[in-house]
Amino acid sequence: MNTTAPTAGGVIDRAALPALFARRGQDTHKGSFGTVGVVGGGPGMAGAALLAARAALKIGAGKVLVGFAQEAAPLACDPLQPEVMLRDARSLLEEDWGVTAWVAGCGIGTGALAANTLSELFVLRRGAPLVLDADGLNLLARGDIQPNWGDGPVVLTPHPAEAGRLLGIGAAEVQADRPDAAWQLAQRYRAWVVLKGAGTVVCAPDGGLHINASGNPGLATAGTGDVLAGMLGSLIAQKLPLDQAVAGAVWLHGAAADALVAQGIGPIGLTAGELADAARALRNAS
Ligand code: APR
Ligand code: MG
Repeated sequence: MNTTAPTAGGVIDRAALPALFARRGQDTHKGSFGTVGVVGGGPGMAGAALLAARAALKIGAGKVLVGFAQEAAPLACDPLQPEVMLRDARSLLEEDWGVTAWVAGCGIGTGALAANTLSELFVLRRGAPLVLDADGLNLLARGDIQPNWGDGPVVLTPHPAEAGRLLGIGAAEVQADRPDAAWQLAQRYRAWVVLKGAGTVVCAPDGGLHINASGNPGLATAGTGDVLAGMLGSLIAQKLPLDQAVAGAVWLHGAAADALVAQGIGPIGLTAGELADAARALRNAS
């Protein structure tokens, strides 16, 4: 294991994110802004995948598909976001939809179908970057899937309990030295790590560490992590430089919550789905 000390942390703020606010060229089309494939939403958890997919679309992905980790997609169409294409995971993975970034694990569950689906995705992702969240991380911690994720970058997005499961320690130990926990995970999995919670830590595979300055306790509500995963996949699919995409999504997610609180929509009662509209407004307002 590489034990070189990680690079001392910079702060992620608006000024550090020029790529997030770059203007669109006139001569562009939906293919210019990438295709996100969301693999998640096992039985009873379809909403997690939908939250990620809607957020991916609203912060600018050209196209978004969901592959539910169920035998058949539980709904034909998302009534609130009919632009998102809904499939079962098998048909999403076995056909080439031109996905330019994958978001996997949101509400996927921890059963055999979830594990098999993720293992298949690692083989079939065709080099496209992968964001792995939630139960995808829990399956990894349990040894039910292996980190044989093939070519292309990987971004892991644990909250402190998930990070603890991956490292074989408790969440309190993770919280006692968050930069070190993120760095341990980045080394172990040769991946980008987004260690969530107040002051989200971003660690690059080479140990570059940054701490996010945006966000507030309004985010402490179900589904906000799914929205973050969708935003990460979206900016990566849009081909922002990877460091700008990862830091940009983390900052935008927190800044959206800050904007909602400033409008009186939170911290109490802020809902995860509202973040995507606020984030879209921020990207367009610069
Ligand atoms: N300050 C700033 N940010 C916060 C705060 C806070 N006090 N509390 C939470 N957040 C942010 C985190 O940084 C993260 O981006 O909200 C998000 C919460 O993400 P998750 O913990 O993954 O929450 P959730 O979306 O409900 O997860 C859904 O996935 O990880 C599993 O156990 C989880 O089953 C649940 C599912
Ligand atoms: Mg989560």
